[in-house]
Amino acid sequence: MSLKNKVAIVTGGNSGIGQAIVLELARQGASIVIDYVVHPEATEKLEQQIAKLGSQCSGVEADVSKVAELQKMVDAAVKTFGRLDIMVNNAGVETRTSVLDTTESQYDRVMAINLKSAFFGTQIAARQMIKQGGGGRIINITSVHEDWPMPGNTAYCLAKGGMRMLTRTAGVELAKHNVLIVGVGPGAVATPINLSTMNDPAKLAQLDAAIPIGRMARPEEIASVVAFLAGDGASYLTATTIFADGGIMQASVGL
Ligand code: BGC
Repeated sequence: MSLKNKVAIVTGGNSGIGQAIVLELARQGASIVIDYVVHPEATEKLEQQIAKLGSQCSGVEADVSKVAELQKMVDAAVKTFGRLDIMVNNAGVETRTSVLDTTESQYDRVMAINLKSAFFGTQIAARQMIKQGGGGRIINITSVHEDWPMPGNTAYCLAKGGMRMLTRTAGVELAKHNVLIVGVGPGAVATPINLSTMNDPAKLAQLDAAIPIGRMARPEEIASVVAFLAGDGASYLTATTIFADGGIMQASVGL
């Protein structure tokens, strides 16, 4: 229960990596606020699961690409649980479209949900952490693709690359307030975002072969890194990214 009495927000917390993060933070004793746009029922189910773990979770209807709605989440955390200690900017989407075909609305959506929400999530959470005193943790869920090109997914790489510099720059700027900012860069994780690969045995075999550990990550293997970063053991980490990628970024066939 290393996060007992801590209050966290996890954007995009009701599916994929976000859901695993919510469950792990709850297991460690944190109270959590998550957003929902289209699936209040997924949020309710999660709230019940968390109650069974002895923690609390509150769902807020919010579109995290809108600044006022991020503010609404922070206000809800303060109103319901009294404070905010941990902000996880996790919400993310990708289009897997070529730079030649990506439309303006696809581009805007990818940038708004991945990058704009992380920028303003950082701003609004940090303001609250500074106001209440004592600092806090901001964890940005980026990707190996904050640094590593993914052809056919350029807008996503751009947004994740922006999150890399958000983590570094805001991390430097806010360290004096003890607001520590770290990115977590997953490789391929078995979540809905990767369903098309998971449903194609040839593609999946090719992906597994490219990963030194030999398989995709389970969402819980990313969540455990986030829980560590939210806890006391990570008090000297800021302005950097931890890659939990099974070694994929360093993979080499040795030729
Ligand atoms: C992307 C996935 C991709 C994985 C590994 C993730 O950030 O969302 O589509 O499979 O990186 O390349």
